[in-house]
Amino acid sequence: MKGNDVRTAVGLSVRPYRVDANTGLDPRTTTMPTSGPLVDAYGRVHSDLRISVTDRCNLRCVYCMPEEGMTFLNRAELLSFEEITRVASVARDLGVTSVRLTGGEPLVRRGLVDLVAMISALGFDDIALTTNGIRLAESAEQLKAAGLTRVNISCDSLRPERFASIRRRGELSKVLGAMDAAEAVGLTPLKINVVLLRGDNDDEIVDFAEFARTTGRVVRFIEFMPLDAQGDWERERLVPGREVFATINERWPLQALEGPSHVAPAERYRFADGAGEIGLISSVSEPFCGTCNRLRLTAEGSVRNCLFSDDEMSVRDVLRRGEGDDGVAGLLRRAVWAKFPGHAINEVGFLAPRRSMSMIGG
Ligand code: 5AD
Ligand code: SF4
Repeated sequence: MKGNDVRTAVGLSVRPYRVDANTGLDPRTTTMPTSGPLVDAYGRVHSDLRISVTDRCNLRCVYCMPEEGMTFLNRAELLSFEEITRVASVARDLGVTSVRLTGGEPLVRRGLVDLVAMISALGFDDIALTTNGIRLAESAEQLKAAGLTRVNISCDSLRPERFASIRRRGELSKVLGAMDAAEAVGLTPLKINVVLLRGDNDDEIVDFAEFARTTGRVVRFIEFMPLDAQGDWERERLVPGREVFATINERWPLQALEGPSHVAPAERYRFADGAGEIGLISSVSEPFCGTCNRLRLTAEGSVRNCLFSDDEMSVRDVLRRGEGDDGVAGLLRRAVWAKFPGHAINEVGFLAPRRSMSMIGG
């Protein structure tokens, strides 16, 4: 039985019908629009496309992959750069304004600079990249020249040995060098993603806050989500955003920043004395599904409307059948329309998605 079937069988409200408060849309009575922006049945307009370019990675972070034994897609299964660009182009025509390239680790895909240039030529407001930083320094300048706007760099510890034990491969010094390189070429504002794990790096909250204060980089604390390939996630291992707030606020008082809430899921805070900014991404303890505007394209060309939904639609099949842009647009519309109201992690009987973060794209 599939995850969602199990939930339905035990009577859980996987997909409760709810009239959207803002738009008045009632998913029971409205039908999918065939023109206008990419809207789901709850009135959420989708303007952010996350494109995973590979499921491979040069690290093996404990919260993402097992140390050994990951299997990866073959080359032929991946969407080509031309195919990715076509999907991005249709998405742009449907109102998508920002694109994020993810993986796995996007910089292990050969020629990524060329893809950035192809996507950039389509004219998005923002083209960002989420990377582990290991290979960023060598291509930061070309990426910027090709049209990349900014980068998010993952870094879960500021202590070399601990960095090595959480990420299992790679070196902290490389990642710190990547941050300098990104800033030197103007891939800014630079955001640093920190996944906190209870007992591993939760004693570095204040150190990371200080890092934000001294460097001006936006440090974002991310709750551990049930998206690891090994299925080891336990609620006890996540560090709630509220706790991070309290820990930092006690040392350096924080003030909430009015974020452009449609752009980032992070709750943003600045230090009351003016120096620096942090963000809290409390995906589990305080879900932000109600304002989610994200659509995902996996490396092998499946469109996915949520990290936590196993429903995928293959745009690769549509493209390789030789269908035109209308076929691609129809698939994107259907994928968005089918989106659930929320991820249900906190509901009894929640089952982690079959595919993990590196296979979907972060
Ligand atoms: N929970 C939370 N964040 C995760 N990431 C990868 N796996 C997980 C997980 N299980 C983060 C990475 C990166 C971003 C793409 O997602 O650290 O910053
Ligand atoms: Fe690689 Fe990112 Fe997963 Fe770490 S979290 S193993 S860097 S894909």
